[in-house]
Amino acid sequence: MVPLKRRKVVSTSSATDTDIKATKYPDTVIFILERKMGASRRTFLTRLGRNKGFQVAEQFSEAVTHVVAENNSGDEVQAWLETQTVGRTTSNTVHLLSISWYTESMATGKPESIQEKHKLKVSHTPTPVTPVVSAKSYACQRRTPLKHHNLFLTEPLELLAENAELGENEGRSVAFRRAAAILKTLPRAVKRMEDLQGLPCLGEHSLRVIKEILEYGSSQEVESTRHSEQFQAMKALTGIFGVGVKTADRWFREGLRCPADVTKSEQRLNSSQQAGLLHHEDLSQRVSRAEADAIGQIVERAVQEVLPGAQITLIGGFRRGKETGHDVDFLITHPEEGKEEGLMPKVVQWLEAQDLLLYQKTTMNSYLESKEGPARPAHNMDRFERCFSIFKLERSVLGEAHSSAQATEGEPGGGEGRAPGSEPLPQRRPAGWKAVRVDLVVSPFSQFGFALLGWTGSKLFERELRRWAGREKNMSLSSHALYDNSKSPAVPVSQDICWVTLSLPERPSHVKKRASGTTRENA
Ligand code: UTP
Ligand code: MN
Repeated sequence: MVPLKRRKVVSTSSATDTDIKATKYPDTVIFILERKMGASRRTFLTRLGRNKGFQVAEQFSEAVTHVVAENNSGDEVQAWLETQTVGRTTSNTVHLLSISWYTESMATGKPESIQEKHKLKVSHTPTPVTPVVSAKSYACQRRTPLKHHNLFLTEPLELLAENAELGENEGRSVAFRRAAAILKTLPRAVKRMEDLQGLPCLGEHSLRVIKEILEYGSSQEVESTRHSEQFQAMKALTGIFGVGVKTADRWFREGLRCPADVTKSEQRLNSSQQAGLLHHEDLSQRVSRAEADAIGQIVERAVQEVLPGAQITLIGGFRRGKETGHDVDFLITHPEEGKEEGLMPKVVQWLEAQDLLLYQKTTMNSYLESKEGPARPAHNMDRFERCFSIFKLERSVLGEAHSSAQATEGEPGGGEGRAPGSEPLPQRRPAGWKAVRVDLVVSPFSQFGFALLGWTGSKLFERELRRWAGREKNMSLSSHALYDNSKSPAVPVSQDICWVTLSLPERPSHVKKRASGTTRENA
């Protein structure tokens, strides 16, 4: 019997209720180790046990009381067990038993009392779990560098996250993204499951995937997802600007697989989808930093023309230091509160007059401080004046940087490039310009800090920051404001906190730099 006192267990919910249907022996939860036994024998033994009223768990969890193995030494089973027990402490105990205990119990129809001969001999006592690397559990509390050591694990996990998003399973997607994010923080490549001991955010499913990759070089689940028709088609269809998961799913069920299928079909398309299809070839290319800078100069000129003194800031992935993006995002404000009102239509008009826009859709600011405040939902949507657009970027303005327009570097699994296997679209023209997705956002000066914070991303970072604010600080954070909920009614907090606490480089000169509480990174 091995004490689990200081050991850690993957997840409280992993031995799901559906795994454990029988209730004849509620105190005995058996897990049969597949290792060296094989899947078919394990399935057979599991079914046998369940038919006799035993609880045989499909997956290991802290609920398991008896681990049964065949052809494994006690030390091997012990080593396996230690890899399974990352993340949570429990006071449970677990028996490591040979298959003989199981077959004898099957024969008598009840869990046999454990004798010495049944016990697997473990030569070393389990060492208490000391995390190899300690890491804070919220992504916003730790550094997540863009370049890290575990791409071979994060790419597969992010692919599963993407697949879950395409299936509208947000919880699952966030779980995979959190797991990937924690691996990005590690100072070296993971070699063994033991390297993960004590780390937060690694759920059972992610651990299973990691383990498979460490043992076999790849994960079957990941590779079959990667090559599945549905994943590839959903990725290709949602890769069209203006097409969300619901539309893509409907099209998939109607037999469409790629943008070329949509073009050929008789689908009714809204104006953004029409533009998305028309410019799909360009929009599926990554945007380089040089292109982002060139667009920045155009936006700067447009904004200064219509509102001198306004300030523009590059936000989104480029602000985090990414070398390429799927679009370019800018935040616009004016130091004199109120001056920014109605700015967007004027900027758009100027850009259109210069023939610089291929598509645009502007939404007005609908944030009313008196009506909003802390009660608003914690989702990501904000109410700023915003313009979703497609810029017509003359390649000539890029000069030397032109070649980088073909940049292919992307985030692991997150590239918006055409899915493999999808048909290329017909060549449209010899390109003198490139269509580039650009998001413009206007914020009042009084909300600029929160807007900058909210629009720098990554999406997981923002999510974690809001969760941390809510759970740990009793505050509600949005891209408009921060409210202290410990007061009644909740009190808005000054936006200086965005510079002081998060040490953003653009803090106004009157705000003194203090030690940073969190670090803006690429979770
Ligand atoms: P993006 O989708 O542009 O992501 O949103 P990104 O991080 O720049 O990555 P790529 O390179 O373009 O793919 C930028 C940030 O803006 C915020 C999110 O925090 C996101 O991380 N955002 C985006 C919002 O707050 N609201 C939105 O409606 C969209
Ligand atoms: Mn972006």
